[in-house]
Parts: sequence; C-alpha cells; structure tokens
Amino acid sequence: MSRGYFIVFEGVDGSGTTTQSRLLASHLREAGLPVTLTREPGGTPVAEKIRQFVLDPSLEGISPMSELFLYAASRSQHVAEVIVPSLDRGDVVICDRYIASSLAYQGYGRGLNLEEIEQINRLAVGECLPDATIYLTLPVEVAWKRLGQRDSADRLEQTGMALQEKVARGYQEIANRDPAGLVFDAQLEINRLAERIQGALRRRWSWFPEEKK
Ligand code: TYD
Repeated sequence: MSRGYFIVFEGVDGSGTTTQSRLLASHLREAGLPVTLTREPGGTPVAEKIRQFVLDPSLEGISPMSELFLYAASRSQHVAEVIVPSLDRGDVVICDRYIASSLAYQGYGRGLNLEEIEQINRLAVGECLPDATIYLTLPVEVAWKRLGQRDSADRLEQTGMALQEKVARGYQEIANRDPAGLVFDAQLEINRLAERIQGALRRRWSWFPEEKK
C-alpha cells in the first residue's frame, strides 16, 4: 500500500461505532497491517480538549452554529495532526465518526443548512475524505434502551429521543447518496456484525486480510 486507507464508522448514539471500530482495528492488526484507530470529536490533545468542552453536560445555550464550528475545529486539528500523516505512512486509519456526524447531528438534528456544513467541513479537512464509511443502523427505541444501560450520558445524549430520530433519518439519507457508504444492521450480534463488515470490505478491496480460521 502506498497511501493508506481511510475507514469511518457512523451511526446514532448507541449503535456501536466505538465497539465496531475497535474490532476492525484488532482484526487488521492481527493480520499485521499498520492501523491508526482514532475518534471524533478528539483524536489529538487539542481536539480532546475541544471534545471535553463540547460534550460537557453543563454547557448550556450553545448555538448549533457554534457547535458546528467546534466539531469542525476538532476535525481540522485531527486531520492535520493524525489522519493525513497516518495515511501518508500507509496506515489503515479507522475513525469513529467524521463529517457525516456533523451532517446528521448539526444538519438533520439541529436544522443547519447541509451545504453550509459541507463547505465548512471542506475548509476543515481539504481533500481528506473517507475511502469507506460504515453506517450502523438501529431503531431509535433500541438505541435509547442501550443508552439507558450506560452509567453516564453526555449532554447530547440527554437532549432526547426526538433529536435521535431526526439524526437516524438523516443518516439514512446520507448513506443513500454516499458512493463510499456501506450500511449494516447494528442489531446483529457484535461478532457477527464485525464479520459482515469485514466481508464487505474484503469484497471491495483485494488487500483486505482473509477471514480468521
Ligand atoms: P461519541 O464519541 O460517539 O459519543 P460516546 O463516546 O458517548 O458514545 O460522540 C459524541 C457525540 O458527539 C455524539 O452524540 C455525536 C456528536 N457529534 C456531533 O454532533 N457532531 C460531530 O461532528 C461529531 C463528530 C459528533
């Protein structure tokens, strides 16, 4: 591989993007491939500070536009400091959330203009777009139950099911028009879902490692 490959996981809160990013990273590492596993918002010390700020449950009254800029600021730092250098080294970069999260949450969820979100993100990331985006779909009621089982919910998770419903519908539309998108049912058992994702990537890319025996 010369330039690496950039794989993003997306989905509503509770859909398991973090778990599935980790499982994919372990699979590729076990096969001896160089992997950078990272997440948004965050992924670098500066961006993790922005994450703490933007996800702070006590942060009230922030406007959707300010939120959009904070996520874009985190993303810009992350692209420059981690994603592009890792791809240049030839790593497979696996990122838990990316631009589609801003479209789904700040656009479909909070009502900001989708084209403006794309423009701001283009400024933030330049040409650095995913080679594949894996969308995990989950009915909102199921997502909600899963979240209830966690001990702490962040500010966004506390804003309610109505927002999550808009976000879920948004993801459907985003996935439908994403040529690099792959959609999976997040209700599948964790390991079966991981195998399905790996199978789809194996069919797409000849370098993708064989199934574990
Ligand atoms: P995440 O790290 O997946 O949350 P958790 O670790 O609690 O599972 O994402 C944090 C929240 O940030 C999630 O509700 C989605 C939201 N978000 C946006 O609204 N816009 C964005 O651009 C990104 C990256 C995340």
